[in-house]
Amino acid sequence: MDEPVVEVLTVATPSLVDSVEALVGQVTRTRDVAALSDGRRRALHAAAASRRPEAFLAVVALDRPHGTVIGYAQVDGEGDPSAVSMESVSSGDDAAGRAVADQVLDTALAAVAASGGAQVRLWVTTPSDADDERALRRGFTVERELLQLRCPLPLAPATVGEVVVTTRPFAVGRDEEAWLATNNRAFAGHPEQGAWDLSTIRSREAEPWFDPDGFRVLELDGRLAGSCWTKRHAATPPLGEIYVISVDPDFHGRGLGRALTRAGLDWLAATGLDTGMLYVDGANTPAVTLYRSMGFTEHHRDRAYTTTVSAAPVLPGVPAP
Ligand SMILES: CC(C)(COP(=O)(O)OP(=O)(O)OC[C@H]1O[C@@H](n2cnc3c(N)ncnc32)[C@H](O)[C@@H]1OP(=O)(O)O)[C@@H](O)C(=O)NCCC(=O)NCCS
Repeated sequence: MDEPVVEVLTVATPSLVDSVEALVGQVTRTRDVAALSDGRRRALHAAAASRRPEAFLAVVALDRPHGTVIGYAQVDGEGDPSAVSMESVSSGDDAAGRAVADQVLDTALAAVAASGGAQVRLWVTTPSDADDERALRRGFTVERELLQLRCPLPLAPATVGEVVVTTRPFAVGRDEEAWLATNNRAFAGHPEQGAWDLSTIRSREAEPWFDPDGFRVLELDGRLAGSCWTKRHAATPPLGEIYVISVDPDFHGRGLGRALTRAGLDWLAATGLDTGMLYVDGANTPAVTLYRSMGFTEHHRDRAYTTTVSAAPVLPGVPAP
């Protein structure tokens, strides 16, 4: 096979979106796990819609002579260029595919260095030994793991003594502030979920999948004590996700987390779904213990590696990407 052409991109176009979605679709079907996260795909689509060069950094590998995208990496700063996260996808697990993955990653790291350097978090879905080796050889260390757990629905009936609660749908335009306060307290210190603000929740309310009926809220003592926010996926097989679940720390340990998990899963089952799914940090012992005790088992895991990439020396006459 000819060497692929590897390019750094600072602008996303609709045709890039199509090519990347085609690659992601193909790899997702082959490996039965999402090859690029929803968040990364959302950022790609947003970058193509805005076409702002400063908001986008990606690498593509194109095969020759067809120009088909066979490898892709995307670097997202989420407003902070000194701490970026990155995912990559390539079309094969054989030696040629691994070589493409190496080239894409090296080019992306060089692009980060040329843009001034950053703390880089690299996410890999279903990490193989080759993924571990690729990351570790480049100075990354394992930072954390995100497990995707699944369970059959409907759940078995609640056991004797299990707390059961009555929940209500989320009230758009009224519950946001109270929910943010509870959620941010519950997730204090969490890298992605502990610092949501009004704009974050409003952006999710604008998503096509958002359904306030599937966002179950629990009020106790006149307060929003917790919630279980679900999301229906039209994937094959259709999945019902527990998207965000939290109990205010003042109410922990009273059986409410279990009750809210059940409330969310019961709602998903009532809409006809027979598989529940969620993501949980592997180190979140309370949540992992809770989910396993309710019948969830691991479907796959994502691993985050981290390293510091120093700024590359600026060479006269060589423009940064
Ligand atoms: C996870 C969370 C929802 C649990 O809520 P909770 O109301 O405290 O949980 P419950 O009282 O219903 O406990 C249910 C089970 O969770 C497990 N659990 C709860 N706290 C635990 C702890 N500190 N250590 C180990 N297991 C624990 C136990 O299995 C417990 O069952 P048991 O009481 O029969 O032993 C809550 O800790 C929370 O909001 N955490 C922050 C947000 C978060 O991590 N959400 C999940 C992200 S995927």
